[in-house]
Amino acid sequence: MNRTSFAYPNSAMIDSIAILDFGSQYAQLIARRVRELHVYSELFPWNAPAETVLAIQPRGFILSGGPYSVYEPEAPYIPSYVLESGLPILGICYGMQALTYSLGGRVGAARKREYGPAEVETTTPNPLLTDGIHRVWMSHGDRIETPPAGFSVLARSANSPVAAMGDPQRRYYGFQFHPEVHHTPGGREMLSRFVFQVCHARPQWTPQSIIAESVERIRKQVGDEAVIAAVSGGVDSSVATAMVHRAVGDQLVGIFVDTGLLRQDEPAQVRQALQETLGVELVMVDAADRFLSALKGVTDPEQKRAIIGELFIRTFEEEARRLGKPRFLVQGTIYPDVVESSAPDRANAQRIKTHHNVGGLPEDMDFELVEPLRYLFKDEVRQVGEALGLPSRLIWRQPFPGPGLAVRCLGEVTRERLNRLRQADFIFTSELEKAGLLRLHHSQTGDGHQTGTAQAFAVLLPVQSVGVMGDQRTYQECIALRAVSTEDFMTADWARLPADLLAHIAKRIVNEVDGVNRVVYDITSKPPATIEWE
Ligand code: XMP
Repeated sequence: MNRTSFAYPNSAMIDSIAILDFGSQYAQLIARRVRELHVYSELFPWNAPAETVLAIQPRGFILSGGPYSVYEPEAPYIPSYVLESGLPILGICYGMQALTYSLGGRVGAARKREYGPAEVETTTPNPLLTDGIHRVWMSHGDRIETPPAGFSVLARSANSPVAAMGDPQRRYYGFQFHPEVHHTPGGREMLSRFVFQVCHARPQWTPQSIIAESVERIRKQVGDEAVIAAVSGGVDSSVATAMVHRAVGDQLVGIFVDTGLLRQDEPAQVRQALQETLGVELVMVDAADRFLSALKGVTDPEQKRAIIGELFIRTFEEEARRLGKPRFLVQGTIYPDVVESSAPDRANAQRIKTHHNVGGLPEDMDFELVEPLRYLFKDEVRQVGEALGLPSRLIWRQPFPGPGLAVRCLGEVTRERLNRLRQADFIFTSELEKAGLLRLHHSQTGDGHQTGTAQAFAVLLPVQSVGVMGDQRTYQECIALRAVSTEDFMTADWARLPADLLAHIAKRIVNEVDGVNRVVYDITSKPPATIEWE
């Protein structure tokens, strides 16, 4: 496990929960669930130094699941400082097995893996589980055969005689199932009981406390020096900029590079949100000609990315120099970017992301970084953004790739083709917005069903096809519409948009956008296709 461990500088001493990560794919989810209860929680590799973990002054520990069996020679274990702290512990899945093993109970090797929905029945009244039957999500191999001394069995399932256990004296608990996933509908309540009734944590993690702490930290870091921010119109850079502005006011200047590859009205919306509403000083750089001439004749997607990435950095550096090369640069790095994990699938996810990170600034630029969102999940970034006064339109924006419309304008990127694409994209997204489908909605039943879109956009194809308009035969370009539902953008399904809505959108695009006579809808999932077309 080579994840960087770091700890929130808990200067306000707010109550917190430490999560030790044993390599579970759900570890981040546990932290999110606890934070949704307004209690700060942070993820640490299971073997992080005790001082690092204790620095957040936890009120209790949650031990995550993990891919190991406690009897493997290299299996992670519970560090002694955790057991010696006298603080409450909740072990989830592998965390429960590790707890059992450390305290002298018996963990049985699996005959078969149990994966999927299950029902557990509370057998002993306890602070975490209400009486009766609970629908839960299981994903484990080994199981507990005998709980350690002092523990009683709290719940059982058909496959797990010890589905939950607890020792109320020491305030140690274990769940064989995963309370953190949506498929355990009562999981939030179970975690809430652990956090509030067992750990007695107070709900102090709110947008206001986050802002207060962050403002203080930024002021301390920056003093009275100048700061610049690269503003892209994306959620993270906008919230980071607004936060630093809240802290140091007009010591901050934002630089917005208009590459000419943005969507309809985007530069104006950014100016409106940051400059007019919040009073952030913004330098708007109109670099469209520059980007378009560098892209002239280029059709290869990777070459487009390289050209845009490099030119963006050069343009930004020129502006920074014009501003006297300030010492500090704001960066919208968020918590999931920082927590690079050990589990192979997550390490891989991370790599794919880096590969996509075009249109940002390289790490080795000669600035000191101010990273106010470093401890925040995306949903927290949004809440903080709202509390800072950013418009919800910007806060709830769908992701947009750094290279912008260049990778949605297949073939050569020209001003004329970009305009065509921009108009079609605007028609598509504004119709979706009108229909309430420009956001992803989750069904409340915990069955994972989603409606709406996580990302929706138009793509201009470099093919011409024949059409008729009136008495005229046309030979024009084609727009592909892409709309997907996804949680993590690693896999995605095409959105089942209503056929009538698609018909209406197609008609509008062909009627209103010059040079387009055909619209198609992309019905491939990812994998095998990607979300973007280039
Ligand atoms: P794909 O197309 O790989 O996209 O399924 C997954 C997510 O990444 C975004 N994406 C990019 N983001 N620079 C970015 O900042 C890029 O070059 C880039 N390419 C794809 C894409 O929009 C989707 O959200």
